[in-house]
Amino acid sequence: MSTSPNTGSVAFDLAKIRADFPILGREVHKKPLIYFDNAATTQKPKVVIDALVDYYSNLNSNVHRGVHYLSQEATRAFEEVRKQISVFLNARYCHEIIYTRGCTESINLVAFSWGRASLNPGDEVLISALEHHSNIVPWQMICAEKGAVLRVCPILEDGALDMNAFVSMLGPKTRLTAITHISNTLGTINPVKEITRLAHQNGTLVLIDGAQALSHLKVDVQEIGCDFYTFSAHKVYGPMGIGGLYGREEILNAMPPWQGGGEMIKSVTFEKTTYNELPFKFEAGTPNVGDVLGFGAALKYISQLGMDEIAAREHELLNYATHRMQADADIKIIGNAPEKASLISFMIGNIHPYDAGTIFDQLGIAVRTGTHCTQPLMDYYGIPGTIRASFAFYNTREEIDQLMDAIAKVKQLFL
Ligand code: ALA
Repeated sequence: MSTSPNTGSVAFDLAKIRADFPILGREVHKKPLIYFDNAATTQKPKVVIDALVDYYSNLNSNVHRGVHYLSQEATRAFEEVRKQISVFLNARYCHEIIYTRGCTESINLVAFSWGRASLNPGDEVLISALEHHSNIVPWQMICAEKGAVLRVCPILEDGALDMNAFVSMLGPKTRLTAITHISNTLGTINPVKEITRLAHQNGTLVLIDGAQALSHLKVDVQEIGCDFYTFSAHKVYGPMGIGGLYGREEILNAMPPWQGGGEMIKSVTFEKTTYNELPFKFEAGTPNVGDVLGFGAALKYISQLGMDEIAAREHELLNYATHRMQADADIKIIGNAPEKASLISFMIGNIHPYDAGTIFDQLGIAVRTGTHCTQPLMDYYGIPGTIRASFAFYNTREEIDQLMDAIAKVKQLFL
């Protein structure tokens, strides 16, 4: 890596990195694409696209099901990625990694396997006001089914979790707490290690929703100490429709299967089925092998860049954008927690986020507008939604300058 004009203190060959992402070279509405919607999904480097093409061109076959060469090779590659993920997250064992379609499915797996088996009437599940709908609705569903109670830990005005409230809400009936690592709407980084310590002191299991975290910081599930950790490949430069659940071995072993079918069984008769061991007990049906291999390529790519370098570069972009926005009295940043990942939710005066987003789009700038699948959080702030610019390491200061120019245009039109 070498120094480039855009990088400030971090030595990052930005031109080379951007060339790794074919889509960053395209135009939208005859303007160069400026992609600031990385919290919704990140763009894919060519190595990930190549891994998908290579799988379907050279390796396609079903896994764990054949003695033939292709099946054996596909199985080996598929299981290699499981190993790679377990190393990336520092899990103790490969079989603590369950492939799913992503965070949403992982949370549903825990809610409907662990929750259905373990929750009793009057038990409590504790979530936070920051949660994405995917970490609210499955808990509402299972709590309704089991007569359990869903409790919501509030946040402070700046968007940080109210840790005093968290401690006071942990009670004798709190069976599990499910909290996001990084808020997709505000960028707040939660103190997940401390959350886990406090919950475990109380005998409460901990699920961390890592959807936004893997791309921004080093995640070490043993250091955090959590019982479950969920992740989605597409938020970390991999393909859509694949992700996983980390679960501590002893807890996963004690949980019943969630979905039934092939692969998750050891033996089947019409009278009785015995279930497979971990991780296969939770992987019914033919898995998404091609996308698993794409995910492996994505993790290799970012590991080579270095998570510390990525975090430092993104931090710089966040600081620069925050500084520029704070200098404009018409811009209100929603979410100013002391620990933040590289995204900014904001409003421009009382301009509706959709109006601003539409103008940005005409200028080639992709942001997300609306409630970001966190309607209760928007209700807390009493706003209809925000404009969200979320940055990845391939973004530049110049792109942020163009966003500021676009904001000036929006103000001319609507204020
Ligand atoms: N959860 C994704 C987002 O925040 C879709 O945009």
